Amino acid sequence: MSISVTFIDPRGNRVDAAGEAGDNLLKLGQAAGLPLEGTCEGQMACSTCHVIVDPDWFDRLSEASEEEEDMLDFAAGARRTSRLSCQIDLTLDLDGLTVSVPGESHDARAM
Ligand code: FES
Repeated sequence: MSISVTFIDPRGNRVDAAGEAGDNLLKLGQAAGLPLEGTCEGQMACSTCHVIVDPDWFDRLSEASEEEEDMLDFAAGARRTSRLSCQIDLTLDLDGLTVSVPGESHDARAM
């Protein structure tokens, strides 16, 4: 069964993507053409994979680790529902997930 994910790009356009259970949200977004750099490739060292999760979906995600929370402190434009997309793997109950890609990102390693 495929899992639908809606990305809202920095201009506010909706980009629909579909993945499978176990797929990584960062990789899915990149494959759909979203400007998610993911410079550190999931090592939680850059925060350029930052997304803002729709509040309706935020509580359905598994909780962020302390390491991820620390990294989100460096993310440009971070909000209460911010997450690192490299840390989210799709599960069947995330079908319909909606996340926004912020317009700017900082590579925390370059700070
Ligand atoms: Fe670098 Fe997610 S890809 S923190």
